[in-house]
Amino acid sequence: MKALISDIHSNLEALQAVLADIEQHNVTEIYCLGDIIGYGPNPRECIDLVRQCRLVLLGNHDQGAMFDPDGFNPPAERAIFWTRAQLESPADSRQNKEDRWEFLAERPRVFKENGFLYVHGSARNPLNEYVFPEDIYNQRKMDRIFALVEKYCFQGHTHVPGVFTENPQDDLYQFQSPEDLNYEFKLDARKTLVNVGSVGQPRDGDWRACYVLLDDDALYYRRVEYDIERTIQKIHDIPELDNFLGDRLRDGR
Ligand SMILES: [Fe+2]
Repeated sequence: MKALISDIHSNLEALQAVLADIEQHNVTEIYCLGDIIGYGPNPRECIDLVRQCRLVLLGNHDQGAMFDPDGFNPPAERAIFWTRAQLESPADSRQNKEDRWEFLAERPRVFKENGFLYVHGSARNPLNEYVFPEDIYNQRKMDRIFALVEKYCFQGHTHVPGVFTENPQDDLYQFQSPEDLNYEFKLDARKTLVNVGSVGQPRDGDWRACYVLLDDDALYYRRVEYDIERTIQKIHDIPELDNFLGDRLRDGR
């Protein structure tokens, strides 16, 4: 069994709770679909923890910390600069700092395995493109993205978990949220995009950390409670991180 996690965003409490939940299952490998850092208060700790994953993709915030952040709103950009300063913290050994930068720099944008594609954003633009639930009505966009997927594509980036399927009969696309699916889905002959949701900053109205267990062709959405007030307090205590970045966690927005 695999665990698929994404969009941790330096939320250590959420990541620890998810890893503890993963330990309760028969998971042999963890795949992380990017955005380890950005927004939250514990970038170094989160990078160190995800290094146990078999696969860790590059997310746009991970890239933003390494290069000039491009296309971020002001609070996100401030968080990126603060994150970068944490990764340069004089409190850390030179070796630790170098190891983390090197780890980020080596992250791939795409991974393919047995007909499964893994990206942060989309098959068309692995780093930056959002595929939102309402995009099912944008047939041109979905046609192009689905054309690039052999069978199944696992992705993150929007922080909105759920399953997109194509319906070859009527040329329409469907989106189902974890609740719609009763938290379970079986991959079938249809091409499918699976958004695994966000560990550290869910935006589907559910504050609990989100990730996916994948057992052969069966996938299970997991929602995990964590000490959210602790994370919010840490964000409030760091002037460079907007309070809003903490407050939004409560509403899952
Ligand atoms: Fe993200």
